[in-house]
Amino acid sequence: MSATSLMIHFTLNGEPVSAGIEPHHTILDVLRQQFSLYGARESCGQGLCGCCTVIVNGESVSGCLFLAAMADGGEVSTIEALDANGELDPVQQAFIECGAFQCGFCTSGFILMSRQLLERNPDPTEAEIRHFLSGNLCRCAAYPEIIEAVKLAAQMRRSTAELVK
Ligand code: FES
Ligand code: FES
Repeated sequence: MSATSLMIHFTLNGEPVSAGIEPHHTILDVLRQQFSLYGARESCGQGLCGCCTVIVNGESVSGCLFLAAMADGGEVSTIEALDANGELDPVQQAFIECGAFQCGFCTSGFILMSRQLLERNPDPTEAEIRHFLSGNLCRCAAYPEIIEAVKLAAQMRRSTAELVK
């Protein structure tokens, strides 16, 4: 480790972890290079496409811009945490049922952002879905299927919520 290296400690998908980093490393670098978590991907590298989305302290961030040092002491979660109990998240299930991807490069970002939306707004309108996901780009233009998947996921989550009442 060089003289400028830092050691950070954070919770990653529910587990306490540590990482040795350089000040310029992004959380995306650290997740992919040190923890072999490849679900978040770099596409634009400029905060414009959402392919690198991860959740830090409950908020979505662009992993390509978010400095790893800023995650010190925090909670980071990635797409890999969603099926940790062996079951797909309703948003994942809905994306599969609606065929809401082609190459899949953008998909983890869309799924994490869709979950953020549904946490805040369990029954979004199509306009609200489009607005919330406007920072995520899909080069395969799977947008119609993505919108349908978010609507389906919202229904699935509301049905589950009714059942547990
Ligand atoms: S790769 Fe981070 S926003 Fe595009
Ligand atoms: S499915 Fe290919 S970029 Fe979105």
